[in-house]
Formats: sequence, C-alpha cells, structure tokens
Amino acid sequence: MSSQGLLIRRANIILPNGESIVGDVLIRDRQIVNVSPSEIEETATRSIDADGLTLLPGVIDPQVHFREPGLEHKEDLFTASCACAKGGVTSFLEMPNTRPLTISQAALNDKLERAANKCLVNYGFFIGATSDNLLELLQASPTPGIKIFMGSMHGPLLVDPQEILEAIFANGNILIAVHAEDQTRLRQRREEFANIHDVAIHSQIQDSLAALIATKRALALSKKYRRRLHILHMSTAEEADLLREDKPSWVTAEVTPQHLLLNTTAYEKIGSLAQMNPPLRTSHDNQVLWQALLDGVIDFIATDHAPHTLEEKAQTYPQSPSGMPGVETSLPLMLTAAVEGRCTVAQVVNWMSTAVATAYSIPNKGLISPGYDADLVLVDLNSRKKVRREELVTKCGWSPFEGWNLTGWPVTTIVGGEVVYHKGELNTSIRGRALSFER
Ligand code: DOR
Repeated sequence: MSSQGLLIRRANIILPNGESIVGDVLIRDRQIVNVSPSEIEETATRSIDADGLTLLPGVIDPQVHFREPGLEHKEDLFTASCACAKGGVTSFLEMPNTRPLTISQAALNDKLERAANKCLVNYGFFIGATSDNLLELLQASPTPGIKIFMGSMHGPLLVDPQEILEAIFANGNILIAVHAEDQTRLRQRREEFANIHDVAIHSQIQDSLAALIATKRALALSKKYRRRLHILHMSTAEEADLLREDKPSWVTAEVTPQHLLLNTTAYEKIGSLAQMNPPLRTSHDNQVLWQALLDGVIDFIATDHAPHTLEEKAQTYPQSPSGMPGVETSLPLMLTAAVEGRCTVAQVVNWMSTAVATAYSIPNKGLISPGYDADLVLVDLNSRKKVRREELVTKCGWSPFEGWNLTGWPVTTIVGGEVVYHKGELNTSIRGRALSFER
C-alpha cells in the first residue's frame, strides 16, 4: 500500500452531477484517484480533516489582467497568483494588454516562461489581435484563444475596421474572445461629454448601446464564418436579451461578479474604484444578467481582475483608469449569493469551473472525479467574514467589495495535489503548470 499523496477526510463534496456527499478524496501524482462516501482505508503523506467544509473543483478564472511584463507596479504574476491561491482560483486565462503586448509567439513564450517561474497556480495566455498580426494569430500555441478589443482600448490592440475583423474571423479556427464595445460610439460620446469629470458619467459615455452594437457585430461575424466566439464580460440586459433570442451553439458568454452585484449607485460610495470597462449598469441590468446566467444564456463567470494602484485611481475622470481586482473575492461573492438562495452551490461550481473547462476545452479540469487533476478548494459555508483591505494580497491593495460580509471563504486551496493555501498561509514554493487547450 502506497502512502504518498493527500487524503481529504469528511468533506462535503460537490459531485459532477451537482449532488453532494460527505466523504473522502484521495489524491496521488497530481490527480484525484478516489472519491468515496465511506472512509478511504489507504494512508497518505498528508491528510486534511475537512469536517464541516465543502470541497469544490478549483475556480478557473477565464479573464484576468495580471500586468506582467511591463506594468508590475500594479500587479505581477507572483502577487496575482498568490491572490488566486487565497481566492480558490487554481487556474487563470490572462489577457494580452501587457507591455509589450502579447501579440506574437515570442511574447506568448515569454509570459509562459515567467509564469513557470513565478505562478502558484495554473496559467494560460491569450494572444491579442492587431491590424497586422494574422499570421501570428494562426500559429499561436498554446493559447485559449484570440482576444479582440473591438473598443475601449488604445494602441495596436484596438481592432475595429470591418475588413480586418472579417479576415480574423475567416481564417483559422481557434476561439475568438471579444471585448464588445463600439469604438465609434465611444469616441463620439467621449467628445460629447468631455467637460464632465464626475466619474459616474463613465456609464453614460460607454453606454449600453455601445455594448449592444459591438456584440451584434461580433455575433454576425461569428455566424457568417461559423467561428467559435466568446463574448467577454457581458454587461447589459440588451445583450442578454439578444443572446436569449439568437445564440448559436458555438457561441459562449460570460459575466463578472461586478456586473451581477454592483451597479451605477456604486459611484456614490466608492467613486472611481467602481470604474471599469464595460462600465457598471443599472439594477435592472443586474437582474436580467442574473436570470440569463440561471437560464444558461450566459455560460460562466470571469472576474476581469484588472488592478490599478489607488494613486492611479485617485486621478480625475477620465484620467482615472478603468478596472477592478477580483480573484480574491469572486468565489465568496458567488457562494454568498448561493447561501442567500439566488442560486445553488452546484451552479456556482459549474459557472466558475466546470463550464469554463468545457468552453475552453481544458482537459481533466473542473470536476471532482477520479482521473481529474487535483485542483481543489475547501470552503467554509458556515461562517461570515468581511472583505478587509489589509488582508488582501493583490498588489493593488484594494477591492470594490470592501466591507461586504461574505461566506464561502477558501480555507484550503490545492493545485496539482499540493496545498498552496491553508488557513491564511500561502505556500509560495508551489508552482502551477501551463494549461493545455484541446482543439
Ligand atoms: O476595466 C477594464 N480594465 N476592462 C478591460 O477590459 C481592461 C482592463 C485593464 O486592463 O485595465
């Protein structure tokens, strides 16, 4: 009898069918080897008594901005992955708006190498589309997909001429993920409201129509070329209604906890900390997005973790940058919603892990089942604790959810069978691995 590995005892385990059992999970060689409602007799190097805790597949966060290389004063791959481990996020997909931009295989390789040296959790990196890097897009590997900023971006990552979008959608077959805001409308509205410096104007400048125009355009291109499309951080009731009517089987969409739980009233309380792209909308949008998620119109959750320093955020609008951190709070936010009856814990597991692994064809992740990778998180659904600035490990050091009293905080996070976070302590010697994406 081998005694290697990790044994989790008496956890409330969320199974692939959504049901839960109290039982044991045995992990060896990075993988789950046994999930049992009765006591597992085998021994292991380490065992964790999970009595009263709930075991979930680790969160896969499919949209983050981790700032390395080039913007490390905001965040870097080490600090961001520490924040992931603390938040129960065991894998992430990161966006190309770093410096240099991730728009070539060389830049992708550089990020993969940096991550191998620094990341406590598993990682994948998008390649960004520009007006002239189609060849790079066709050959990029490994990558979850091509990121197109249709708006809300300056510099070469902004792609909005029709003929270039057509060429990207027409060539190749990897997933295209779009930031859907219409640049022409954004430009016009920025001019129109240029003399207003109250940050609340942000939601009117980058309004619902700007999002709807771009989402419609991406959808039309995807249908024309039957190209796998993913709509990032969908923010409006109008887009949700559009997809409810017309969502081809090869299209997926995501929503952030911010767009579900915050709205334009947040500007009064936290000012420019509430500024993001696409912007916060109304409480009606919150409700319609929730319903779309519950109904499967929206497939999964991403944080769009986009850290900026407090000094940067303190600048006057529109100099204040858009974006909020999220990986440390997303799981407790969603589990709190589950405990409050807005959804089930099994739905949260699906939206934050299983459905993401499926949509991005990431093998062996997103379920607690023998043969799956041992990326797991034990959460405590029996106590509440407030989000406190001083406890955050993201380098930017703030959260839009400070003061929120949440349940479902991670107690233990496991990456590849190794305990990377346990009761407030990070094991910074653990390294994640590059994710693979099956085509
Ligand atoms: O608010 C945002 N900030 N939205 C994005 O899509 C980009 C991000 C950033 O990188 O700061």
